[in-house]
Amino acid sequence: MTKSFGSQNIWRDVSLTLPAGEVNALLGPSGTGKSVFLKTLIGLLHPEQGSVIIDGTDITQCSAKELYEIRKLFGVLFQDGALFGSMSLYDNIAFPLREHTKKKEDEIRRIVMDKVELVGLAGAEDKLPGEISGGMRKRAGLARALVLDPEIILCDEPDSGLDPVRTAYISQLLIDINAEIDATILIVTHNINIARTIPDNIGMLFRKELVMFGPREVLLTSEQPVVKQFLAGDRFGPIGMSEEKDEAVAAAEAAMQAAGISGGGTKDDFSEIIPQVQPNPDMPVRQASIRHRQNVLNIINDLPPNAQAAIRASIAEEDRRAMESPETSATLVAMANHQFDYPAGHGFQAYDGATEQISTAGMATAVIDAPTQVVETPTEEIVVTEEITAVTDEGQASSRE
Ligand SMILES: Nc1ncnc2c1ncn2[C@@H]1O[C@H](COP(=O)(O)OP(=O)(O)OP(=O)(O)O)[C@@H](O)[C@H]1O
Ligand SMILES: [Mg+2]
Repeated sequence: MTKSFGSQNIWRDVSLTLPAGEVNALLGPSGTGKSVFLKTLIGLLHPEQGSVIIDGTDITQCSAKELYEIRKLFGVLFQDGALFGSMSLYDNIAFPLREHTKKKEDEIRRIVMDKVELVGLAGAEDKLPGEISGGMRKRAGLARALVLDPEIILCDEPDSGLDPVRTAYISQLLIDINAEIDATILIVTHNINIARTIPDNIGMLFRKELVMFGPREVLLTSEQPVVKQFLAGDRFGPIGMSEEKDEAVAAAEAAMQAAGISGGGTKDDFSEIIPQVQPNPDMPVRQASIRHRQNVLNIINDLPPNAQAAIRASIAEEDRRAMESPETSATLVAMANHQFDYPAGHGFQAYDGATEQISTAGMATAVIDAPTQVVETPTEEIVVTEEITAVTDEGQASSRE
């Protein structure tokens, strides 16, 4: 898509696919058009070129009636909360239910109070938006975004105005919702901690373009100066106070940097991928993480070497943690009636005498539910799909494709 206001172009040729059911983040300096992008996705703003295809319908071309129906799939948290000032929080949160459903008031009450509780606003539901803190308004906006159990959730800076602990709770809530209802989520954020631990995929807007969009490891290990500067939060680099930094300033800064003067940024190593936040134990396995792994393995050979290494390390770490979970290993041991030996690195040796290294392909429980395995050779060059239809008492796969 390309979007301008009058003669001011905001961004051009932005193309991306949000993989269904995955959690995505969009980063970018202030003013690069992230909020405009979200509003374009729901048809509140219209790109002058391009299309927005949702479930096969191009919402830039469809009728007003179709757009109205498609909007019901969305839950949107606007950057400013966008609450109705003259309505209580309760009525604000109930609004989509009254507008889009025929639910009776007692059912509406049950849903609203459930969401109020989820975002930690119990007791504040009768207050007006003007009577609560900025962070509370943000959480009320999120509660309202969630009442219709949306298939697509867009959150414009869910963390802004929230303290670090509440931010962690909101992030956890989004991961739990993704596990529970498989919603496709797009989070616009400046919060690097969220970017590192929450999304499956990350994109970044800069200088009117989408710099990148893909598996989180690609951006987090990127060598691009703009990405590194943004992640580190440093004033030295291509991003300036206004978008364009002139050459004299850039040269002066480079000299300061060479002299060891701090640009205020963190020295954290973002290429060391830290594990993603997992759903709470009472939640189902996140199907998105299984699909995401498959999607990533399909394209891994086309990614930069840094990203490939980081992805392999993430997968090995996820597998290791899955194997440590008592539930998972108990199921596996019960299935094969054999001791599993799980060496460091990729995959695990399934049983005595097995020659293959079988990766757990997402979650180890997938072994039970869907006996299709991704098997990687030790050289990691060939990916074979193998189906084990039964495991005998001796622990041998009795037939395979
Ligand atoms: N309705 C509008 N009419 C005209 N210009 C607009 C409109 N909405 C946004 N803009 C302009 O589009 C640009 C991008 O704005 P946007 O709010 O999307 O930035 P952003 O990336 O979300 O920034 P921030 O991180 O500060 O929220 C800005 O220059 C803004 O002035
Ligand atoms: Mg914005």
